[in-house]
Amino acid sequence: MANIIDGKALSQKIKDDLKVKVDAFEQKYNRKITLAVILVGENPASQVYVKNKIKATEYVGMKSLAFYLPENSTQQEVEDAVRSLAADDAVDGILVQLPLPKHLNENAVLDIIPAEKDVDGFLAENVGKLTLGLPTTIACTPFGVTKMLESTGLNFSGKNAVVIGRSNIVGKPMALLLLQMNCTVTVCHSKTTNLKEICKQADVVVAAIGRPKFVTADMVKEGAVVIDVGINRTENGLVGDVDFDAVKDIASYITPVPGGVGPMTIAMLLENTYLCAERKINV
Ligand code: GUN
Repeated sequence: MANIIDGKALSQKIKDDLKVKVDAFEQKYNRKITLAVILVGENPASQVYVKNKIKATEYVGMKSLAFYLPENSTQQEVEDAVRSLAADDAVDGILVQLPLPKHLNENAVLDIIPAEKDVDGFLAENVGKLTLGLPTTIACTPFGVTKMLESTGLNFSGKNAVVIGRSNIVGKPMALLLLQMNCTVTVCHSKTTNLKEICKQADVVVAAIGRPKFVTADMVKEGAVVIDVGINRTENGLVGDVDFDAVKDIASYITPVPGGVGPMTIAMLLENTYLCAERKINV
């Protein structure tokens, strides 16, 4: 049976450490670190994520500003909301919950966020810096995964890492971070022909494809570290991208769903907000 990487416990420790730093910031600069969150429409999953993000923001002692815009908001209305937060010196971070309703141009909205307030690490400038290995804001989910990998105490240098999924939010930045950890990185995706064989070679598997129980026991090498980014809503409840019950007997470390990567993503959002506030002081 694999060791379980407890994302809930690890994220709690990160939030509690952050609480102390956030309090010290407030004492020193006489203002609260502030995160603005914009949710457009009524996507039920997004509503849950935003609620949890706001709760966690307040838990660590930051101020949260929440903006709920109706589903039928125009491009102009959403852009105006972001523009006013971009210009507001009291706002340290801006998060536009994705996906936006289909009639809106997501990139055009994100482009209005100043790179120094991009707590998601989604902007081209921040992704470019990550690619170059420069200090920047790292997308929350892959950032959280690196913290989970570090928590094992293992040395990943020279190991084979396979990322399943090539999204801008998870797969691509994850591959870059694993490369920074000196892994040999392979990115698999829906068009990969021999995915099973490639996955079987991996010392580290990061599954981020959004297909329930996609990674089965026969795809995993004995002793591999398996990180499950998937959150799939099925009739049997929340299910990851990994067949946890079968893979746990083969892996050396594995993350559960729920209670794995999910809570880490929120903890890293707060860490990113803190880092954005600190950088603002130091420019
Ligand atoms: N939608 C799904 N994941 C994320 C995330 O990490 N940030 C934002 N803004 N939207 C998301």
